Amino acid sequence: MKKLNLKNDQLQLYKRENSNLWQIKLKLPKQKAIRKSSVSKILEEAKRIALKMYARILKTKKQFFKINKNYNYKKIHLIESSKLNKKEIECFLKESIKYIKFNKKNLKKSNLLEGKTIFNLFFEDSTRTRTSFEVAAKRLGADLINVALKDSSINKGETLLDTMTTINSMSPDVLIVRHPEEGISKKISKIVNACVINAGDGSHEHPTQALLDALTIKNKFKKFSGLKIAICGDILHSRVARSNIEILSTLGSSINVIGPKTLIPKDVLKRKVNIFYNMKDGLKNCDIVMMLRIQKERIVGTHIPNEKEYFNKFGLDYKKLSYAKKKAFVMHPGPMNRGVEIDSKLADDVTRSLIQEQVTMGVAIRMACLEILINNRDKNGN
Ligand code: CP
Repeated sequence: MKKLNLKNDQLQLYKRENSNLWQIKLKLPKQKAIRKSSVSKILEEAKRIALKMYARILKTKKQFFKINKNYNYKKIHLIESSKLNKKEIECFLKESIKYIKFNKKNLKKSNLLEGKTIFNLFFEDSTRTRTSFEVAAKRLGADLINVALKDSSINKGETLLDTMTTINSMSPDVLIVRHPEEGISKKISKIVNACVINAGDGSHEHPTQALLDALTIKNKFKKFSGLKIAICGDILHSRVARSNIEILSTLGSSINVIGPKTLIPKDVLKRKVNIFYNMKDGLKNCDIVMMLRIQKERIVGTHIPNEKEYFNKFGLDYKKLSYAKKKAFVMHPGPMNRGVEIDSKLADDVTRSLIQEQVTMGVAIRMACLEILINNRDKNGN
């Protein structure tokens, strides 16, 4: 018998000795196998027929979500964590739960956002945020366009707002923006019709990172009140710290901020946090230790001693982690500077580190963000 695999063992063509015709075998995970004749003797034609049948059947197997269109979050943009109240934050967390389950399935494809157009507009480097928005959009059936801004007409002198107006004329549904300028997503949201998601604006805010961190904590601890969370390191330049302080304190956790005096901004006092300048005191009784990246690209002047000295004082290793609760977990938004703010072995220790879990939660929370914002916009008749 001749046999040919077309799609990772899910789709095969075979021809028995006593037959001229190619047969199709389609076996999707947890489904009964379907066997059918391609009614063709010619391999290329049989392949075309089999692939067409595979695409048609896969489409009918796409997940249809029942969604709640009466969200507690009513806006069409997500720009600042500081503007979110408890019910709004809980709305994003609640809608993410179905996506955590969905993302574990073998077939991860839904029609929910079919026909919607989403632009990733990253003016700063990114791995996690950009790719997780891309994965989230594609799993929900939307079309996602990654704009290569390093090769865009901004290099020819076009202003950022002109670029946004140009993209707005292509009728996008969502613009996901990362940019070094603080407040830029807010400005963009005022001149476009699309939903705008702030994927990081300078040292200001990164709301979807803080939401995914909250989702990671919720999954582990099932609660926020009564938790003591330490946020350690370069608070001054960290949009992740700002967004997390807002979201986690609104949810009822107590926040300790730890770092060298030069990396803790004065305005952090306005937020409800306890400030420590050494790890031993700051980590006492903490349930979670969230480390921050030293933002070398934003540091001007001498905010920190050399990296070795910084690691000795503020880098998290097993010894410093022992100052926290016995079963405390470690988080880091990434990318990490191993050996600068975190010990490499500890970062990879899955019994203590939630770093990979944070990335997994990032896809689920971003699926929920896209669902909520797009449905709110559709509801408003935009
Ligand atoms: N945490 C975070 O924003 O990572 P990226 O810079 O890789 O997107």
